[in-house]
Amino acid sequence: MKILITGGCGFIGSEVVRVALAHGHEVINLDLLTYAGNPDNVADVADDPRYSFIKGDIADPAIAATAVEGCEVVINLAAESHVDRSLHDPAAFIRTDVVGTATLIMASRAAGVRRFVQVSTDEVYGSIPTGAFTETDPLQPSSPYSASKAGGDLQALAIHHTFGYDIVITRGSNTYGPRQYPEKLIPLFITNALDGLPLPVYGDGQQIRDWIHVRDHAEGIWHAMEHGAAGAVYNVGGGNEWPNLEITGRILAHTGASHDLITYVADRPGHDRRYALDTARLRGLGWAPQVAFDEGLASTVEWYRGRRDWWEPIKSGEYADWYATNYAGRR
Ligand code: NAD
Ligand code: TYD
Repeated sequence: MKILITGGCGFIGSEVVRVALAHGHEVINLDLLTYAGNPDNVADVADDPRYSFIKGDIADPAIAATAVEGCEVVINLAAESHVDRSLHDPAAFIRTDVVGTATLIMASRAAGVRRFVQVSTDEVYGSIPTGAFTETDPLQPSSPYSASKAGGDLQALAIHHTFGYDIVITRGSNTYGPRQYPEKLIPLFITNALDGLPLPVYGDGQQIRDWIHVRDHAEGIWHAMEHGAAGAVYNVGGGNEWPNLEITGRILAHTGASHDLITYVADRPGHDRRYALDTARLRGLGWAPQVAFDEGLASTVEWYRGRRDWWEPIKSGEYADWYATNYAGRR
């Protein structure tokens, strides 16, 4: 079948593109190529005759209408995705994550697309001190990023409720692996460690995230697309809960860098303390994560060690300017 995947030049989207091609489908990748979009992430499939690329904005109704034409399924991964950036420019998040999502869903429905998959995040539930969130828990987002993702989820559920349109939502946990933009914890700390630069730990470093390898996350999205029920939400978590300081220690061990690089910096404002997901619903449909955390982390470190050509231009370009402007005062 013909599938539209948006955000396919990003970290998780590019993995979903690979999964869809591996299943034998035709893929159109719609991506605006923001700072986070990198054509190199899909360089391995660019010459595949079943793959094509459209540069464009999911929030533009004309582009959305053209991109969805003739597609059986749409998987929406296009998003502004970094909490720290959302603290500086929430409007960009609302535009893509809320307006863009609703625009793309309405275009899909108008074009007769059979199923729309909205890729969301565990962050929409907010922070949880103990236990784990199930799909029926209320949304209590606490950052501009997670509030914008919750807005997208609510649009999707409302359009499903109003028109009976077939929409499935996935809510993934913190994802790691090759090709992740080095503003997020794991790739930032790996690349800094490889260069002997400080690892900026926010606050006390005891915040907990549930980590999932990008391959497991992409397979979870695919599984929900294939087997999920219309209007249902599916949590996609790796079941690897670790405090940030533990992750930091493991990265130092894998890179062989010194513990002296650990640098405590001011905490992120409004920092969520812990995320945790109950994944029984998707597991009940036959999905389970496959990548053991320490093996996944070790291979991710090796990927960054071998792909300086991928991350050095990023860290010396727009990102360096942004980081210097927004984080100079944090240290
Ligand atoms: P990313 O930032 O690496 O990639 C986002 C992609 O979307 C980029 O290629 C960018 O160019 C594109 N894009 C941004 N705005 C666009 C627009 N208006 N129109 C078209 N394309 C646009 O993000 P990611 O980490 O791969 O995340 C993908 C999705 O998964 C997001 O929806 C995110 O909320 C969700 N998610 C991410 C994580 C995580 O840990 N990274 C965890 C759970 C859920
Ligand atoms: P991040 O990768 O930004 O993902 P999210 O905020 O969506 O969970 O951050 C993961 C955790 O690591 C989060 O608790 C914030 C923390 N963190 C740091 O301590 N230092 C950093 O430089 C970054 C980027 C994150």
